[in-house]
Amino acid sequence: MKAELIDGKRIAGEVRAEVAAGVVEMKQRFGIVPRLAVVLVGDDPASSIYVRSKKKVATEAGMVASDDTLPADVTQDELLRQVRLLGDDDSVSGVLVQLPVPDHIDVDAVIEALNPDKDVDGLHPTNVGLLVQGRARFVPATPAGIQQMLLRTGNDPSGKHVVVCGRSEIVGKPISLLLMQKAAGANATVTICHSRTADLGSITRQADILVAAMGQPGIITADMVKDGAVVIDVGTNRIDAPERKCGYRLVGDVDFEAVSEKASAITPVPGGVGPMTIAMLLQNTLLAAQQAAAKG
Ligand code: GUN
Repeated sequence: MKAELIDGKRIAGEVRAEVAAGVVEMKQRFGIVPRLAVVLVGDDPASSIYVRSKKKVATEAGMVASDDTLPADVTQDELLRQVRLLGDDDSVSGVLVQLPVPDHIDVDAVIEALNPDKDVDGLHPTNVGLLVQGRARFVPATPAGIQQMLLRTGNDPSGKHVVVCGRSEIVGKPISLLLMQKAAGANATVTICHSRTADLGSITRQADILVAAMGQPGIITADMVKDGAVVIDVGTNRIDAPERKCGYRLVGDVDFEAVSEKASAITPVPGGVGPMTIAMLLQNTLLAAQQAAAKG
């Protein structure tokens, strides 16, 4: 393997230690312990695992973490009521609703019910608008984590051609907006590709930094990557692995083995972007608590 491995677990550990120090300072200065409230609808196994690890990591950073698990058949009104209740609760610093929610729920209405001052996922239209205008308050956690991984491995995106594959609200759109800003740690030229892009490889081959976030296992093959590119794999696809106790294996959107021979640096799956997402969620929760304390 030629590429340097970008160790998301190690970098996430750095960020988590910084957040833990910030939590200690908040306690000392304001007597406040940041609290993260997570809302989970239903019992999807993958979502339940994510929620458990978000709570565990928040607790390890000295925060309080709570979850409200609502039944899969909860009504839209009940869910909105719970989200608004948390938004109005002064003891809660940050609120997130684990996605996806069941089909009968209007996800846009749920996001609009979030208190934008506590929207640590950065999905409320107010926070999306602030990101578009280059004055973000809460950057969605996965994009924020990708930016930190690049910066902390000496891969500043400034002046680079970043090709983003994927246009989701939670990764593709916000990472594109974040890295194109006229700001330190950004200043990239960004191209956005998606499932309808014609001749995807002709565009990905131009990337100095390639962000794969399409949710399609192994879609980025070695012939689609320029020699020396930095490759960030956001895919977390479960594929059947009957030989394993859990019955599945996580794979990214990138053909890791082959692409590692061409890239200069690459994130693994698991252990790359995933741990960074949770670390940055904590950072947003700390920020929410700090902003609330500053308002008084
Ligand atoms: N589901 C997958 N990723 C995320 C995330 O970053 N936030 C929320 N709320 N749900 C998710």
